[in-house]
Amino acid sequence: MIASTLTAADYRYLSELVETHSGICVEDGKQYLFEARLASVVRQHGHANINQLVNQLRASVTGAIHREAVEAMTTQETSFFRDGHPFEALRKVILPELIARRSQARRLTIWSAASSTGQEPYSLAILLREHFPSLAHWDVKIIATDLCESVLGRARTGRYNRAEAARGLSAPLLARYFQEDADGFLLREEVRRTVEFRQFNLAGPWGSLPEFDLILLRNVLIYFGPAAKRRVLEKTRGYLKPDGYLLLGAAETTLHVDEAYEVVHLERSSFYRIAPPRPLNRAAR
Ligand SMILES: C[S@@+](CC[C@H](N)C(=O)[O-])C[C@H]1O[C@@H](n2cnc3c(N)ncnc32)[C@H](O)[C@@H]1O
Repeated sequence: MIASTLTAADYRYLSELVETHSGICVEDGKQYLFEARLASVVRQHGHANINQLVNQLRASVTGAIHREAVEAMTTQETSFFRDGHPFEALRKVILPELIARRSQARRLTIWSAASSTGQEPYSLAILLREHFPSLAHWDVKIIATDLCESVLGRARTGRYNRAEAARGLSAPLLARYFQEDADGFLLREEVRRTVEFRQFNLAGPWGSLPEFDLILLRNVLIYFGPAAKRRVLEKTRGYLKPDGYLLLGAAETTLHVDEAYEVVHLERSSFYRIAPPRPLNRAAR
């Protein structure tokens, strides 16, 4: 193994930079992770090694190069209908329930809060078209956000190579919702336009967002430190309708992080909603 050239001070500097601007917590002893992930930023800025990059970062006011370094530390792993079961639960239970509850207003607002290259919000858009055709006459919004402009750019194109398309999409879904060409598959325009992509930093100030019926916040808090995790879950409650649902990644939970949620187990997956207020404990009064 090649010894890292990062000094302890530079390591601390990079860790703090990344955590402050994204919430992502890089544990001690992960020098190799910085070296590997920042290699492309080192090259793009004409540096010979990571030390020169750190010197440039330290010497300049926070700007584009700092953003590039932070973005390079994110993990973009995703796939269509990732993990399967949560989408089954959405199809069988959550969406029918929400649709029944919203039948007067005929409005449904959904947030994919760390949408990466778009497979997650597009899976939702496809699910709605496949199984809930009556929603064609509703006001349905799917807002998809991510920290990284680069993945948002890719997501907006709706273009996927063969390997990406094969991860989670059946042949009939591919045939119905994508156009095939030499490079892979392009999601049909009418489905693409049902998702609105925006840049949004979960670890920054939360600006103008509507209240949501359903929030997908999957496979992102796993990278955050405990305080950032708690802050995001607390803020998320403020944007979730009282009877709305939150879905986290399979390895994530609100338990012991934010006890104001209650868990609902469905189809081998866990959804969360805001817990009803607890009755006053007479003995404690
Ligand atoms: C592993 S992907 C998860 C994608 C999708 N939710 C899924 O489960 O398949 C994590 C995504 O979180 C994004 N991310 C990381 N930190 C973020 C932050 N502070 N605010 C918003 N998005 C962030 C990354 O850019 C990346 O696209």
